[in-house]
Amino acid sequence: MKTIKIAPSILSADFSKMGEEVRSLEQNGADVVHCDVMDGVFVNNITFGIKMVEDIRKTTSLPLDCHLMIVHPEKYVERFAKAGADIITVHWEACQDNLKEVLQLIKSTGVKCGAVINPDTPVEKIKDVIPLCDMVLVMSVFPGFGGQKFISSALDKLRELRAIIDESGKDIDLEIDGGVTKENVAEIKRAGANVIVAGSAVFKAENRAEMIKALKDA
Ligand code: DX5
Ligand code: ZN
Repeated sequence: MKTIKIAPSILSADFSKMGEEVRSLEQNGADVVHCDVMDGVFVNNITFGIKMVEDIRKTTSLPLDCHLMIVHPEKYVERFAKAGADIITVHWEACQDNLKEVLQLIKSTGVKCGAVINPDTPVEKIKDVIPLCDMVLVMSVFPGFGGQKFISSALDKLRELRAIIDESGKDIDLEIDGGVTKENVAEIKRAGANVIVAGSAVFKAENRAEMIKALKDA
């Protein structure tokens, strides 16, 4: 079984004090910082871009997991890599015709790469590119906003992907994103996820350290 990593999403942080928020994640036991980049076109919301990633990079030694919810990600991956991303994930829905090339482009910049599928996209769509990925991300909400309810059909996709990954014998992480709580995380892990994104669960918790530990140990 792969190590469980907790990746709080800074989408739910207070953007006016991002440095402090990221340091608090590190101090409270987070393993990864999940950075949700939204362009207002691919999704119905706008967050932040390259400059924010560059500035966050200076505040933490935790890996930065950049989840690009943008159209034409190939235009920006080199700059996100240069800004300090450790892994960049891109949506199948944003690059249906060139996902393989975009993943290869990310790798060529020296950072890890991952493919993401929305709740209504079957695993089948990314099957061919899985061997190229360092991580596969299953969305358990439609991207755009934090605090939505977990869509449970994501569990079947996790099981399907876990089987494919195990069979490949490759070292590929399986990440889940959206609606994770300390109540549903055990089932999510049993289905095969080992990188757990949690936005509102961590940032709304009274005690972040306890919440991160609960998500890790469940
Ligand atoms: C959704 C984002 C998520 C989001 C998760 O578009 O990709 O990373 O921040 O937030 P919660 O954990 O609150 O569902
Ligand atoms: Zn995300």
